[in-house]
Amino acid sequence: MTVDHATAIPSHIPAHLVQDFDLWAELTAQGENAYAWAANLHRSTPPIFWVPRLSFLAGTWVPRRAEDLRRILQDPETFSSVGLTPYAMLLGESWRLAPLEVDPPDHAKYRALLNPLFTPKKVDALEQDIRALATQLIEAVAQQGRCDFNEDFAKAFPTLIFLKLMGWPLEERPLFQHWTQTLIKSFDMQVVTDNARAITGWIRNHIAERRLNPGDDFTSYLLASQIDGRALTDDEMLGINFLIFIGGLDTVTSSIGLFFRHLARHPEQQAQLRADPELIPNAVEELLRSYSIVNMRRTVTRDVQIGEALMKKGDMVLISTELANLDPEVFDNPEQVDFLRSSGAPHMAFSYGVHRCVGSHLARRELRIALELWLKLIPPFRIADGTQPRFSAVGVFGMEDLHLQWDPVVGTAPATSAERLSA
Ligand code: HEM
Repeated sequence: MTVDHATAIPSHIPAHLVQDFDLWAELTAQGENAYAWAANLHRSTPPIFWVPRLSFLAGTWVPRRAEDLRRILQDPETFSSVGLTPYAMLLGESWRLAPLEVDPPDHAKYRALLNPLFTPKKVDALEQDIRALATQLIEAVAQQGRCDFNEDFAKAFPTLIFLKLMGWPLEERPLFQHWTQTLIKSFDMQVVTDNARAITGWIRNHIAERRLNPGDDFTSYLLASQIDGRALTDDEMLGINFLIFIGGLDTVTSSIGLFFRHLARHPEQQAQLRADPELIPNAVEELLRSYSIVNMRRTVTRDVQIGEALMKKGDMVLISTELANLDPEVFDNPEQVDFLRSSGAPHMAFSYGVHRCVGSHLARRELRIALELWLKLIPPFRIADGTQPRFSAVGVFGMEDLHLQWDPVVGTAPATSAERLSA
């Protein structure tokens, strides 16, 4: 008899906690119904279960209750984030994505560098640019009566804001858009490696250039910063820049795509927001909860018991923000999208604990402005005739394809705005 070591169940996992499916393959295969399927896990599985395989990864614990997930995220000493992404390894290098892959106490040192750049006040300073960029992109399609939402808006919008935030050339948008898609949305390791090499090459050149000519940009800020009284190493510079690239682009693109698919299918909720734009911040929170996109992992550093599960040192744990935010113990009717929802704890779409998303204020502002301006500048929209939205669970959850359609207002010039990008 041969034993498949990749899926062999370790002896400390009791049989009744084993759910014999590949969670990732199932979620991907569910497509359209991925969230309904995730919500169903709350009705059909133990609070913490073990899956023998997670895509190309080996067996993993899956806690599904928000309370357990919070407890895990609050204990980074026991649940480590070190070494969870493959990029440096694929290139035969040893830098790490800081602060994401750094545990306390060092985590705080990197986080302290980033926090001041992402405060609500810093986001306020970007607000005009965010509005101007969104307005330009929307006005470009308003009179067409339909658009390829991903290509015309969802990818371009956060990429331009990211470049603006970093102080990097806006003309690089096509290149960065291409890299985001190929790095994060590909399972082909050769493609991921080639793209990681191209991106790190670009960042390294930029760091070298800024060393010679410091400017008013993110890279120059890091070059002038210190950790423990010393300058950052080249590897630290690279890891931080690379992380912001990964964290800030595809996440916002994916969330916007899911938000707009929902609104295109729910004209009554579009009408609700058009009639009462003050509800938009609530809508952003409810859509972030309902359509969470990120799944993280942690490595157990010491044996620990949570409920029925005895987790052993070296075990992997999946942290699914979708499962946390669809937990019926926390949210009444979790599958219902309700912009007036008052029940439930704050959602965990941006995680919890020390690694909680540093870009959450920026992301929220981008999402709010996208909703506000689309509803202001575009008449009621729907899924475009003859098209079928395509969902994807590769990388983070999001929309692979989404075409929208509306009836342009006949006889009027395209909506114009005094707001223009101050590039
Ligand atoms: C809707 C958009 C976004 C979502 C849903 C999101 C989600 C998350 C989540 C779940 C984490 C925690 C990962 C973990 O615990 O292992 C995280 C961390 C992070 N995010 Fe975001 N994010 C978004 C947008 C952004 C943006 C716009 C930026 C920056 C431009 C950003 C930068 C980061 C960074 C640097 C971290 C690491 C923080 C740390 O380890 O201390 N994110 N994000």
